[in-house]
Amino acid sequence: MLERAARRRRFLKFLASSPLLACGVPEWLAGFADAADAQSDLPKRASIATPNEALNVFDFEPVARQTLPPAHFGYLATGVDDDATLRANREGFSRFQIRTRRLVDVSKVDTSTELFGTTWKTPIVLAPVAAQKAFHPDGEVAAARAAGAKGHLLILSTATTVSVEEVTAARGGPVWYQLYPTDTWRITQALVKRAETAGCPVLVLTVDLPAGRNTETQSRFEKEDTRQCSSCHQPGWQGYLRRKRMFDGLDLTGVSLFSPGLTWDFVRRLKDTTKMKLVLKGLETREDAELAAQYGVDGIIVSNHGGRAQESGRGTIECLSEVVDAVRGKMPVLVDSGFRRGTDIFKALALGAKAVCIGRPYGWGLAAFGQPGVEKVLELLTRELELMMRHAGATSLVKLTRSFVVDLRHG
Ligand code: GLV
Repeated sequence: MLERAARRRRFLKFLASSPLLACGVPEWLAGFADAADAQSDLPKRASIATPNEALNVFDFEPVARQTLPPAHFGYLATGVDDDATLRANREGFSRFQIRTRRLVDVSKVDTSTELFGTTWKTPIVLAPVAAQKAFHPDGEVAAARAAGAKGHLLILSTATTVSVEEVTAARGGPVWYQLYPTDTWRITQALVKRAETAGCPVLVLTVDLPAGRNTETQSRFEKEDTRQCSSCHQPGWQGYLRRKRMFDGLDLTGVSLFSPGLTWDFVRRLKDTTKMKLVLKGLETREDAELAAQYGVDGIIVSNHGGRAQESGRGTIECLSEVVDAVRGKMPVLVDSGFRRGTDIFKALALGAKAVCIGRPYGWGLAAFGQPGVEKVLELLTRELELMMRHAGATSLVKLTRSFVVDLRHG
């Protein structure tokens, strides 16, 4: 017990000097700090004991922190370098304010959105989150059941710990499949074929991680973890990929998830290989959005990988309009990274996003309570979005136009 308390104190010291806290000390950590000073066991200060006690999605984070081994929580929490992009995603929302219209009948609001011929009752999408069994034994199955129960689209990560077939069954309908291209075409083809056969209508190619990343926060959390990781993980890519069900039966000799040679030619090749719609995830600029349209891409997710890829310091909400303007309605634009509130989602929809993907919040919900935690996260965000639409007098996503936001960067 004492050793555990000492370990926690060391961890708190690290957190106190961490860029994670550059935005201020969260309530939950203040609680932990008190407990550490009293040399007691820290997990006592859980703020919520059941999903229904949560007031907002942030309430799940301390429970996830408490529940998960440090290395696993660190994986979920990490940004890159000094975590500046991670913070920029949140700060970006404060550069947009909401312009509210009054005396509109808001007794009903319609949050439905259409993507590639399918109408979803909500624009809130579960983003691809890797390795979910690191957060809860049910992993991706729990998230998929929650998505199915609440009617949300789910995008499954290449690095899933549950197969696409099982996740599709748990979701009770098709999911979109996110593709890390890998550096080996034979592997790429096998992944694409398997997703297609499983009934995925859309392939989401992630293009923002060509050459690795510097996840310092994750490494610091790992140092706090005294377990023998090698009892579950073999080291290196081979060890990583072997635990990921989409690679079952494939010869992984020499294969890496990174693909430094990736260019627009690969996009063309992929388009020619699959009947699935092709969405690019990780674009941030008008130039790339224009190229995507030229290369016949079907959709874009404006994303910086939740601040986990590159330290650009630009929030995705600040990149969104230039991408929306560049594609001129030719394809749907979605967005992710840093969305935690209904107002964040409202702003993105007003700026022209057709849907908004969330990642960490449902990771927290999953880690804290499994499927009920994910469901509650989705419920909270939906309730906040609907309330904001009612406040603003925007009764449907079609009516939710740019006139509802003020971009403070341009006055
Ligand atoms: C996976 O996509 C990750 O960011 O770890």
